[in-house]
Amino acid sequence: MKGIVWDGKDLSVVNDLEVKDCGPGEVRVRVVNSGVCHSDVAVVEGTIPFMTPAVLGHEGAGVVEEIGAGVGHVKVGDHVVISTLGNCGHCRFCDAGKPTMCRDTFGHYPKPFTCGGEDHYAFANVSSFAQYTVVKAQQAVPIPEEVPFPSASLIGCGVLTGAGAVLNRAKVGIAESVVVIGVGGIGLNAIQAAALVGANPIIAVDTNPAKEATAKLFGATHFVNPKEVDDTVAAVKDLTHGGAAYVFECVGAKPLMEQAISMLQWDGTFVILGVTPFGTKIEFTPESLYNDKTIMGCRYGTSRPQADILRYAELYLAGKFKLDELVTKVYPMDDIHDLLHDMHDGRLARGVLDINP
Ligand SMILES: NC(=O)c1ccc[n+]([C@@H]2O[C@H](COP(=O)([O-])OP(=O)(O)OC[C@H]3O[C@@H](n4cnc5c(N)ncnc54)[C@H](O)[C@@H]3O)[C@@H](O)[C@H]2O)c1
Ligand SMILES: [Zn+2]
Ligand SMILES: [Zn+2]
Repeated sequence: MKGIVWDGKDLSVVNDLEVKDCGPGEVRVRVVNSGVCHSDVAVVEGTIPFMTPAVLGHEGAGVVEEIGAGVGHVKVGDHVVISTLGNCGHCRFCDAGKPTMCRDTFGHYPKPFTCGGEDHYAFANVSSFAQYTVVKAQQAVPIPEEVPFPSASLIGCGVLTGAGAVLNRAKVGIAESVVVIGVGGIGLNAIQAAALVGANPIIAVDTNPAKEATAKLFGATHFVNPKEVDDTVAAVKDLTHGGAAYVFECVGAKPLMEQAISMLQWDGTFVILGVTPFGTKIEFTPESLYNDKTIMGCRYGTSRPQADILRYAELYLAGKFKLDELVTKVYPMDDIHDLLHDMHDGRLARGVLDINP
């Protein structure tokens, strides 16, 4: 089968990839579409260190092809979104509804693929840039068939991460001010979740002027381009009567994270979503947080995939959540480099690959 492999030097489309058999408690999925998230790019750029060779992609949707022994919640033919969380399902964190905190989701690096006789790692437990993948049963989350696959695929990371950060982690409330720095796939979903709960104002910050229209389509009330103002922090403070209740950093840059802290109101919360090169340090003075300010980490939108993926799919079908508008263009798998080029040039909300339509 076809897939996209990162070997540490090159990102190539291969035709002779094989995936292991579907074992007990596992599900084999035909991946129909996969979004390309900045975290895939971060592996290639070296920001996120990952073992090689690896089959990339972690934002996929497809059809269940085979179920292993003991799998009961999906059947062959079901449409599914693939979650990256291979959580165990029975530890104290899973039982408490915090699957992103399950220790089983860290430190396991399965190698379910082979290519040219060599074992290949699965990136983020998913590898949605492969025509077929085998995942833990709990990673396959059934969705209604009415959700088109390109739109559904984006729930797998961009939606869960961006919207989940607002709804599950920060728990933004009505009329609270929100700043979202970086209007990519993650930032747009933070914006639309903030709009959904009635946050106000919702200020999008991006250096790409083309992002203004998209940000406003998703519910931003204001757009600040750091290249067009003298002082981004001052511009945000002006729009929020002195500081924002919540700032979400969705780029992954040290100076932006430091600015985010300066943008907070008393008792404001800064939520870190962007991934910086490992080992990066951000600087702030303790007294700058003195007035009850909070810095929050957030993994994968603090999501509960079995509950949240269905929630977003149902909101989409009810016309209350945008998914189609996230998909700027669908590319054949062979055109991955064109997609990355367009992404780099800021032309995409999300670029999606046709994997095995
Ligand atoms: N915490 C998590 O669980 C999690 C999950 C997925 C992705 N991420 C991370 O989130 C970040 C965003 O991912 P994405 O897929 O949305 O990226 P993206 O490439 O789609 O979007 C990034 C956006 O940031 C903007 N930008 C770049 N430099 C900027 C600057 N100096 N000021 C303002 N805006 C700027 C770009 O114009 C673009 O619109 C990445 O670091 C990614 O690794 C984190
Ligand atoms: Zn991602
Ligand atoms: Zn667990």
